[in-house]
This record gives sequence, structure tokens and C-alpha cells, in this order.
Amino acid sequence: MSTRIVTAADFGGPEQLRLQTVPTPEPGPGEVRVAVRAISVNPVDWKLYGGMFGRDPGLLTGFGAEVAGTVDAVGDGVTSYGPGDAVVVRSVPGGAYADHVLAPADLLTAKPAGVSWEAAASVPVVGGTAVHALEAVHLGEGESVVVHGGSGGVGRLVVQLAVRRGARVVATASERHHDDLRALGAEPVAYGDGLLERLRAAAPDGRFDAAVDTVGTDEALDSSVALVADPQRVVTIAGFARFQELGIKAIGGGPGAEPGEDVRAAAVPQVLDLLARGEVTIPIARTFPLEETAEAHRLSRDAHPGGKLVVLP
Ligand SMILES: NC(=O)c1ccc[n+]([C@@H]2O[C@H](COP(=O)([O-])OP(=O)(O)OC[C@H]3O[C@@H](n4cnc5c(N)ncnc54)[C@H](OP(=O)(O)O)[C@@H]3O)[C@@H](O)[C@H]2O)c1
Repeated sequence: MSTRIVTAADFGGPEQLRLQTVPTPEPGPGEVRVAVRAISVNPVDWKLYGGMFGRDPGLLTGFGAEVAGTVDAVGDGVTSYGPGDAVVVRSVPGGAYADHVLAPADLLTAKPAGVSWEAAASVPVVGGTAVHALEAVHLGEGESVVVHGGSGGVGRLVVQLAVRRGARVVATASERHHDDLRALGAEPVAYGDGLLERLRAAAPDGRFDAAVDTVGTDEALDSSVALVADPQRVVTIAGFARFQELGIKAIGGGPGAEPGEDVRAAAVPQVLDLLARGEVTIPIARTFPLEETAEAHRLSRDAHPGGKLVVLP
């Protein structure tokens, strides 16, 4: 039996991606093999083979974090899942863009029947990050928060989870996404020149209780620090170059950032359950066949897709 897998021939852009055919891997002890139905695209995928996190050759094959699919084989000692189970894998160790992947059974979560393969595959990274970000700033009911990049994959979930907590949410996005943000319960503000003044005008009494930055630009970081009294209630998921200088929090990896593995793992079933009950949405902007993974990564890198991009083997 063979399986297709997308790897990078060298460090660089999506033009480096190749579709290879390899023997289908067999699960070892404690592992599960999943026949993949959907692979979620995240910016970190193309950043890994782009060399932004170093040049370990393993990064050329090990990119892609999360998939949804059905279990088709289990290794010795696995009792929690069996063939045919619909699952989400939150962290694929060996490259997620494939027909079949192997993962330790403890990285799996059951997929609720009412959640699409595309949305389910997208839960671990954006759901885990959004829950972690709101925990990091201790957002409470009735408080106000500014979300930079509210129309992105992570931003849309931060907005929805903050609204569910009873917070007043102001979110930045380009104008074509403002109606989307209003529909999610946020007040949209355009980013770019004059951002600080627009945010001050939109904030209750000119201040926010907390800020979540998913963009990492200077204007996002500086306006957050200017408008939130306590810098420890400002968190960034993308501004790793300046968070220490500004005294704010960073989450998700890198020196000094909180990895939050436990809170992110716990978030996966929570967000799947919210999706199944229709209490949050993860809009899918576009899907691609496996052989068009490079095109999906170009769109993720160069455009503002306005929802998740998903690859379907
Ligand atoms: N640390 C972590 O744990 C972690 C986890 C996940 C993601 N990330 C990182 O976080 C970032 C966002 O990820 P994502 O998956 O949400 O990306 P995404 O779905 O591609 O969304 C990016 C969003 O950024 C918005 N944007 C672009 N420039 C902006 C600006 N100057 N000001 C405000 N918004 C701007 C775009 O909004 P418009 O289209 O409206 O312009 C777009 O919707 C990426 O850098 C990713 O690598 C970090």
C-alpha cells in the first residue's frame, strides 16, 4: 500500500513543494494511523520550510500540524480508538500533508458527527491559540478587549470566545472583513495610519482592559501598550521580536514565550463541542486538493484569505 506526502525539496517558498509517493507507514506501539480527510493550513507550515525557525533538515518533511480523518490501523497497546473512528489529530509529528499520517494516540480527539472535516481539522491551532490567549490576559465578563487581526483564523475565534465571555470586543481588520466581524459581535476598526486614535475613540473611556495581538506589527503592539494599563494583560502570538522589551506576554513558542501545551490540548475538545453546538464558527475560505498544496500556501502567505484554507487528500 502506498501513500502520498508533500515535502519540500529545499528551504524556500511554496515552489519547493513536491508530492511524493512512499510506502504507507505502519503504526508502532501506542500509535494510530489516520486516513486523512482534511489538513488545515497554518502560516507556521510555510514558515517552517521557509527557514524562519532554523534549517534543521527535518523541517523539510515535518511541516503541517493538524488533520482530521478516520483511524485505519492501531499499534500495540492502543485501546482508546479503533478502525473507523472519526478523529482530529492536534499535532502530527511527521508531516501532515499526506493521505495517511501516524500519531501517538494521546494526540487524538474524537470528532463530533455534526462538525465538518474541514472545520474539525482547523480546531487545534486556532482554537488552542485563541483559548490560550484569552487565558493569558485573564479576560473577564464585562471587560473590554482589542483584538488585532480579528479577521484571521486565530482572530475570528478570539473574537467569538471573548464575546461569549460577555466582553466588549473591538477588532482590527481590513474594511472588506468589517461586516464579518460585526456578525461575530465585534466592533471593527481599520488598521493602518491613525490606528491608535481610532482605537482610543472606540474603547470604553479611551482604554481597554486587555489586548490580543495576532499580527505582530509595531502599530498593533504599540497601540496595545498605550491603551491597556497593565502590560501583562497584553498578549502577542506573532510579535516575538519586541515582547520582552515591551513587558508584554508572548505565547506559543520561542524563548520567553508561554508554550501552554496543557491549555491548548484541553481546548481541542472544548472548541469542537462549541462548533458541534453551533456556538462558534470556523469559516472555510477555500479548499485545495493535495497536489495543489503549494497554491494553498501561496494564498496563506500572500493574500488575506478571510477564513481557513484547507487541503483535502
Ligand atoms: N504563537 C502561536 O501560538 C501562534 C499560533 C497560530 C498562529 N500564529 C501566528 O499568528 C499569525 C496569525 O495567524 P492566523 O492563522 O490567524 O493567520 P491568517 O488566518 O492568515 O490571518 C491573518 C490576518 O491578519 C490580518 N492582518 C494582516 N495585516 C494586518 C495588520 N497590519 N493589522 C491587522 N490585521 C492584519 C489579515 O486581516 P485582513 O484580511 O482583514 O487584512 C488576516 O485576516 C501568523 O503569524 C501565525 O504564524 C501564532
